[in-house]
Amino acid sequence: MPKDADAKAAPAHVAIIMDGNGRWAQKRGRPRLFGHHAGARRVREIVEACPQLGVKYLTIFAFSTENWKRTQSEVAGLMSLFRKYLRREADDLYQSGVCVRFIGDRVRLDEKLVARMDDLELRTAGNDRVHLTVALNYGGRDEVTRAAKRLAYEIEQGRLTHQDVDAETLAGFLDTHVLPDPDLVIRTSGEARISNFLLWQSAYAEYEFVDTLWPDFSAEEFAKVLSAYSNRDRRFGAVRA
Ligand code: FPP
Repeated sequence: MPKDADAKAAPAHVAIIMDGNGRWAQKRGRPRLFGHHAGARRVREIVEACPQLGVKYLTIFAFSTENWKRTQSEVAGLMSLFRKYLRREADDLYQSGVCVRFIGDRVRLDEKLVARMDDLELRTAGNDRVHLTVALNYGGRDEVTRAAKRLAYEIEQGRLTHQDVDAETLAGFLDTHVLPDPDLVIRTSGEARISNFLLWQSAYAEYEFVDTLWPDFSAEEFAKVLSAYSNRDRRFGAVRA
């Protein structure tokens, strides 16, 4: 549950919908995957900026449960990009003190990718400088549905009863159960929608929609968005003290 409203604090947990890779590439007359590669390079800059900006948790939307509807070649290109990215960045992430986690349903992902995700999670589990969560084959409704299914199974097995079901119990079955709720959700590229991202967890989040396409979203712009957030008045449904 949210703690006391603190209008001046930096957001501890920022979640980002990294949108606009395709348009960024199209503007340059290049294929969409060119934009995804440029987008992947931005991820590192934003992760590195987190500690000095006071951001402890960063969650990024890399691939949604709806993104399978894209062309087969774009999906395959993205999966290959994720595999290469995890291999290439693993050492740096580990050495920079980043704890990496993945949320989303792994069932539909290829074995090699899942093995790299598992390895990186295990290897960086002791890190605490920044907590990077990558949402891969993630959808908010899908996550809540999977959580409800697991909860129902616990009831069926007699380990819980329906009386035990409250918001806290359900949240304990979500992929994000070890993370605090996001304080701020940013979406790039000028679109103002949440696209099934962290539906449950963002109940009290602030939102910032910026026009910049993701591959152009710099650490400087990130800092500006965070500073706009720190002037907001978060009341979590209460009135100002
Ligand atoms: C949305 O832009 C972006 C995606 C669906 C993929 C996001 C992936 C990355 C930024 C790649 C790197 C991530 C990691 C973790 C290595 P879009 O394709 O919908 O852009 P458009 O709206 O302009 O078409």
